[in-house]
Amino acid sequence: MASSTTLCLGVLIPLILFHNLHASSSLSLSVEKLKEDVIVSSPKPTFTAGFYAVGHNAFCFAIWYTNSPNTLVWIANRDHPVNGRRSTLSLHKSGNLVLTDAAQFQVWSTATATTSKQVHLRLHDNGNLVLLEDSSDNAVLWQSFDFPTDTLLPNQPLRGSTNLVSSRSGSNHSSGFYKLFFDFENVLRLMYQGPRVSSVFWPYAWLQSNNFGNGNGRSTFNDSRVALLDDLGAVLSSDNFTFRTIDYGTVLQRRLTLDHDGNVRVYTMIDGEEKWVVSGLFRPQPCFIHGICGPNSYCTNVPTIGRKCSCLPGHRWVDGQDWTLGCIPNFEPWCNNTMQESRFVGLPEFDFYGYDYGFYPNHTYEECVNQCLRLCQCKGFQHSLSDQGGLGSQCYLKTQLLNGHRSAGFTGSFFLRLPLSLDYENPINNGLVCGGNSGGVKELERPYVEEKENESVRFMLWFASALGGIEVLCFLMVWCFLFRNNADKQAYVLAAETGFRKFSYSELKQASKGFSEEIGRGGGGTVYKGVLSDDRVVAIKRLHEVANQGESDFLAEVSIIGRLNHMNLIGMLGFCAEGKYRLLVYEYMENGSLAQNLSSSSTVLDWTKRYNIALGTARGLAYLHEECLEWILHCDIKPQNILLDSDYQPKVADFGLSKLLNRNNLDNSTFSRIRGTRGYMAPEWLFNLPITSKVDVYSYGIVVLEMITGRSPTAGIQITALDAESHNHGRLVTWVREQRRKGSSWVDQIVDPALGSNYDRNEMEILATVALECVEEEKDVRPSMSHVVERIQSHEHNS
Ligand SMILES: *[C@@H]1O[C@H](CO)[C@@H](O)[C@H](O)[C@H]1NC(C)=O
Ligand SMILES: *[C@@H]1O[C@H](CO)[C@@H](O)[C@H](O)[C@H]1NC(C)=O
Ligand SMILES: *[C@@H]1O[C@H](CO)[C@@H](O)[C@H](O)[C@H]1NC(C)=O
Ligand SMILES: *[C@@H]1O[C@H](CO)[C@@H](O)[C@H](O)[C@H]1NC(C)=O
Ligand SMILES: *[C@@H]1O[C@H](CO)[C@@H](O)[C@H](O)[C@H]1NC(C)=O
Repeated sequence: MASSTTLCLGVLIPLILFHNLHASSSLSLSVEKLKEDVIVSSPKPTFTAGFYAVGHNAFCFAIWYTNSPNTLVWIANRDHPVNGRRSTLSLHKSGNLVLTDAAQFQVWSTATATTSKQVHLRLHDNGNLVLLEDSSDNAVLWQSFDFPTDTLLPNQPLRGSTNLVSSRSGSNHSSGFYKLFFDFENVLRLMYQGPRVSSVFWPYAWLQSNNFGNGNGRSTFNDSRVALLDDLGAVLSSDNFTFRTIDYGTVLQRRLTLDHDGNVRVYTMIDGEEKWVVSGLFRPQPCFIHGICGPNSYCTNVPTIGRKCSCLPGHRWVDGQDWTLGCIPNFEPWCNNTMQESRFVGLPEFDFYGYDYGFYPNHTYEECVNQCLRLCQCKGFQHSLSDQGGLGSQCYLKTQLLNGHRSAGFTGSFFLRLPLSLDYENPINNGLVCGGNSGGVKELERPYVEEKENESVRFMLWFASALGGIEVLCFLMVWCFLFRNNADKQAYVLAAETGFRKFSYSELKQASKGFSEEIGRGGGGTVYKGVLSDDRVVAIKRLHEVANQGESDFLAEVSIIGRLNHMNLIGMLGFCAEGKYRLLVYEYMENGSLAQNLSSSSTVLDWTKRYNIALGTARGLAYLHEECLEWILHCDIKPQNILLDSDYQPKVADFGLSKLLNRNNLDNSTFSRIRGTRGYMAPEWLFNLPITSKVDVYSYGIVVLEMITGRSPTAGIQITALDAESHNHGRLVTWVREQRRKGSSWVDQIVDPALGSNYDRNEMEILATVALECVEEEKDVRPSMSHVVERIQSHEHNS
């Protein structure tokens, strides 16, 4: 601690002595003199301590950043705000620091005592508020670092005896539902402690999915139980959990906060901009956080806003402003009316974690239905249609629907039990559009408001909360607008994820042996094979046409892409932004691109692989397009951009690069320049029509047709980009349509001759039919990507 001497010197209120509780002494901080009565750290006053308004006429004694006054790092009395009148913080001569509400009730104190003549209260430059004895060694009587609320500052330890508790919402600082703590096994964990249920959800040893990183490797042996964020941006915990921010390595202003949505984020202050950006995130998948959406609702992951909660069909919100309260059924409970007839609504890719009433291995769908009907509390069941682990299809009955989430690529479906007579909306296509939020501003009950003031105060409260409501609404609207038109810098706030990191140029140069092995080109760059120092084989893309943007903008964009995590999207491992260099590091795909595989004469992709590639690609795209914002359009779907891993699972590559490259300017909802590749481009590009996610659906349709017929959409035709006449859907589409018109055995006519007779006619027909719908000229007639997934998938299950 090189600066420890200056820390102790620089205190504006170095000494507060208080002899008499009743004296209106200027030696205590009072809530009325908010501006003057603060403690500021020095010499560069990074932190301020004082009374912070948390509601109308409600204050908390807190510490915040002087240049970011709404970022509280510590609160003395988060669950007991004090009145705006006659509330004080006073330091008693006995050494006790006491917060008094309305000159009547003690709501908080340090509960310290000393025999020393004097005590000092100091706010250090690191944000620590310290109560010191005036002894030779200045012994610390109490310090705020020992009692964290939801934030850890650099080098502030989180110990076994303390924990972080999230705030209730973005605007309500009282204790919320999430807790970061060391459990009795010495492991650092995140827990949801809801009003009715609680569960630990991190680390996630028991969950298995391709979407998960590795949450194990924790040690239970070290019982020192301490974790901290260091100055350079690493989180180090005694259970061997380590975590680095993407900007690791420089001393910057940082904080670690357990946010109200249950995620732990490390924030970095951008120099000069006085705004916080997320430089690290413990849980990249917000929907796996328990309790994030209340009972009978489900969570979906929306890249820019993080997550969205929606009610299950046949249910409605308890409180549309507070998603955590969940939804209630629009029908009588099953046990109240056992005469109600049931039906089961299939919800593909849904899962509800925990609270299984029973587990039945090797049960068919019908057997599972019968199990559920026998139990009046049964609200539905999870059924994995495929045989997993040799147990046959599995059935889990649920009596509570909690921790629901939907994620593209999740295998298995949930079957919700609804009354046969109930009308419901299909959730797959009717999500809540940007509605609700968990940060509604509500009035704070003040039980001891003086009588005379009653009416006006009530009005003020009402007015304030109405204003708050309007504000929230405006905020949401602006938010949606911003993201629809311009995935703005604000998305920064949600960027970054575990494992994703920054590489240095020299590191990548070495990994690729001086960029010697070229494996591909396109998407604004050249791709090289490389081997990292940990022996991981990677693909390194060097961008040629880099937009004229600074490193922090680049970082913002890249970390959004890096955050997209789906088994059918190519994973981005990191990036490099150094001087004029901009590079992206991706996972390496053993089997190259779909294009290479289709044109290869030595090996033929068999039917099962082709079918799986069609399904996987659709899943990847559905994820990109998911939900209300149509956030990422790929705009260049073609066989070259569909890569195949060692199991021939497809991964869509080259998405989300539009803002990194000069040539692709996003201009409101239309792109100013034609993008895409001849043969795969939707007609909208040529006719200058609005560009929506349906352009990807079109290109996808062409790719599927190419895959099943073995004919290239570009072979033998000259299409000039702007020549609409000759575009004419390309010959491939016209040809397939003609075959279909001609007769019943049309699938046999169009199938790739290289497959011989080794294909499934039903599957072939489904794919061809869906593909033809995808390439409809009128964009509104084309199905959405998630609809495509459903169609292909439902067939897979029947067969
Ligand atoms: C924890 O980390 C230390 C040092 O990196 C290592 O020696 C030890 O084996 C790790 N313990 C476990 C249980 O992984
Ligand atoms: C336990 O963790 C602490 C803090 O991380 C570390 O200093 C100490 O060396 C660890 N002890 C063992 C036995 O690994
Ligand atoms: C269901 O039955 C219970 C107990 O008889 C009753 O308290 C409750 O109000 C009933 N609920 C509905 C929605 O009818
Ligand atoms: C599943 O059930 C079928 C028929 O009931 C039986 O033939 C099969 O052996 C069972 N499989 C397992 C893994 O128990
Ligand atoms: C904050 O949340 C708590 C707990 O839900 C609630 O009691 C309190 O009234 C809320 N305060 C404000 C200002 O909304």
